[in-house]
Amino acid sequence: MVESLVPASIPVYSPASVDAAVDVVGSISRVIERHRYLSGPELDRFEAAFAEYCGVGYCIGVANGTDALEIALRALNVVPGDRVAVVANAGFYGSTAVRAIGAVPVYVDIDPATLQMSPAALSEVLRLRPTAVIATHLYGLLSDIEAIVAVATEGGVPVIEDCAQAHGARRDGKRAGSFATIGCFSFYPTKNLGAVGDAGGIVTNDPALAARIRRLRQYGWAAKYHVKTAGGRNSRLDEIQAAVLGDRLPHLDAWNAERRSIAARYVAGLAGLPLTCPPSLTEDYVAHLFVIQVEDRDRFREHMAARGVSTDVHYPVPDHHQLAYGPEQHPPLAATERACERVVTLPLFPGLADADIDTVIEAVASALVPARA
Ligand SMILES: Cc1ncc(COP(=O)(O)O)c(C=O)c1O
Repeated sequence: MVESLVPASIPVYSPASVDAAVDVVGSISRVIERHRYLSGPELDRFEAAFAEYCGVGYCIGVANGTDALEIALRALNVVPGDRVAVVANAGFYGSTAVRAIGAVPVYVDIDPATLQMSPAALSEVLRLRPTAVIATHLYGLLSDIEAIVAVATEGGVPVIEDCAQAHGARRDGKRAGSFATIGCFSFYPTKNLGAVGDAGGIVTNDPALAARIRRLRQYGWAAKYHVKTAGGRNSRLDEIQAAVLGDRLPHLDAWNAERRSIAARYVAGLAGLPLTCPPSLTEDYVAHLFVIQVEDRDRFREHMAARGVSTDVHYPVPDHHQLAYGPEQHPPLAATERACERVVTLPLFPGLADADIDTVIEAVASALVPARA
């Protein structure tokens, strides 16, 4: 046997430990034995449990997180040509939903200390009279959502929280998704609460909005074959995904705590190095991604790869530089541009071994302080 010269890589994410915690085959078998694959008891059970977990009145399951954002925008009556305020450093998901409607994203710069939407920059953008704001809780850190909602409400503009990376993040007893008019979730398999395929959800406290969202996710139907709401589509959360999510939800807080303690070990181990770590280790950060900022990122990543540590970049291209939609007018986005050049993601997931955490810390140290190599 020929031994590999490249050391086995520590992945950025592994589902192994999450998969082992719950009998996923049991969840799936329950659905198969019932012969009911859509709009059944697993969906009802998960929607009720997730609404309660988030501390809101209603949860509506949908097919994925991008649909959640698009349906939320439609529920708020965003129409073609409208403007929607979004950040440009969050992977284009919000922009995808805005563009799917034929609306136009207006980009808001970020706070360089948190990498989240800046409420001050938002108040400038509100002069362009957007119809809605999407505030992403990026990397699992709650944005300054109270200030964002205050600024937007003063301008009469509703806010959608994009919670796809922040399931369970909490401040002053309130969880992600419960601060604004609507909260949108992705349950993509790598998320803090992940399904075994695509899945998403929308939460709100507003009964009229919840009813409208329910119609929009299923052809605009008010009742079977009776179309009441324009802009409807098929975006259902199926029974298998709902069963897995319902069975995994009770583990979410423990997984988040484990993620946060790995983040704390990184922050302690990386202290004093020329890099920037995430700014919080309290419960407003559920450590979806551990994103540091370094200079000379390409060289850093090469060094990490040679040491057997995978890294990723979330996200390398700011939305306003994506090629599909051509040049846009936008306010200055200096903090966004700078962050996109410097961010790099280290491995972090429930089950990441202590020895691997140490390997990652040593690899980062040796990349940034060559004397420690
Ligand atoms: C911040 C954010 N918003 C939206 C999405 C879209 O979710 P989905 O992939 O389920 O469509 C994702 C992730 O993939 C995300 O990270």
